[in-house]
Amino acid sequence: MVSGRRLRVLSGILPALWLLCLCLRHGTTAPVKVDCPCADPSQCELITAPPRKELFAFIVEDSNWQKYDWSKITTVGLYTKYDPKLMCHAHSKGARIVLAVIYPVDNLTNPAARTAWIQQQVAQAKSWHMDGVNFDIEYPVSIEDAHYVVDLVKETAQAFKAYNPNAQITFDVGGVPPCLVLGWCYDYTALAEACDFLFLMDYDLLAAGPVAFPNSPLSVIKFAANGSVYIPEGIYRFLS
Ligand SMILES: *[C@@H]1O[C@H](CO)[C@@H](O)[C@H](O)[C@H]1NC(C)=O
Ligand SMILES: *[C@@H]1O[C@H](CO)[C@@H](O)[C@H](O)[C@H]1NC(C)=O
Repeated sequence: MVSGRRLRVLSGILPALWLLCLCLRHGTTAPVKVDCPCADPSQCELITAPPRKELFAFIVEDSNWQKYDWSKITTVGLYTKYDPKLMCHAHSKGARIVLAVIYPVDNLTNPAARTAWIQQQVAQAKSWHMDGVNFDIEYPVSIEDAHYVVDLVKETAQAFKAYNPNAQITFDVGGVPPCLVLGWCYDYTALAEACDFLFLMDYDLLAAGPVAFPNSPLSVIKFAANGSVYIPEGIYRFLS
């Protein structure tokens, strides 16, 4: 026996279900072409290339990407403001374009905030037709808290790959072992397992004292008898 009240509820639900079905049908027939800003709508389709040798470019300047050698680039990280023309261009060349993300350090130990933040990144990537994220947190994390960063990256990768199995999730680490400088005690091994690949930041001079780094100029490096490589008077002297 169906009561009048239940019938009213059902009659309210059925149109809603119908609408939902319409949306799902629409979603499966035209997955990424909705709101596509590209002249050729196929350029909004996400890149499906399997893992490959990468040439990863960080875009920090929005005026010169037209001059990049796009025949070699496989992924660009968007470190400048979003430009739909750039997204269309990257995709037309078979290159992924990923969001640059920094999770707020104050919320590192807060799982609910983490989940909410990840949902925002996924929504942003969907609306901009982006292929994943590059984490560049670069803040100190203690050994005790390192697992929170791993959880963040793991959960982000799961959320992205749930809607795009070809999404690319990467994480930037120092060009030196964890904890050696700047208090970045990231768990490299667990992070490498949680994401597609780590980006080793082995560029630039690090002004962090008497330790030699991958790009330290050979002319200022000394090799100690004990096998360590160091800069006797520090990098500041070299720069001044
Ligand atoms: C931390 O998370 C809370 C709750 O989700 C949010 O309101 C707040 O804006 C977050 N803090 C930062 C710095 O993003
Ligand atoms: C190796 O030698 C350098 C230069 O003398 C010194 O600064 C460093 O502490 C030594 N490292 C070890 C592990 O003994």
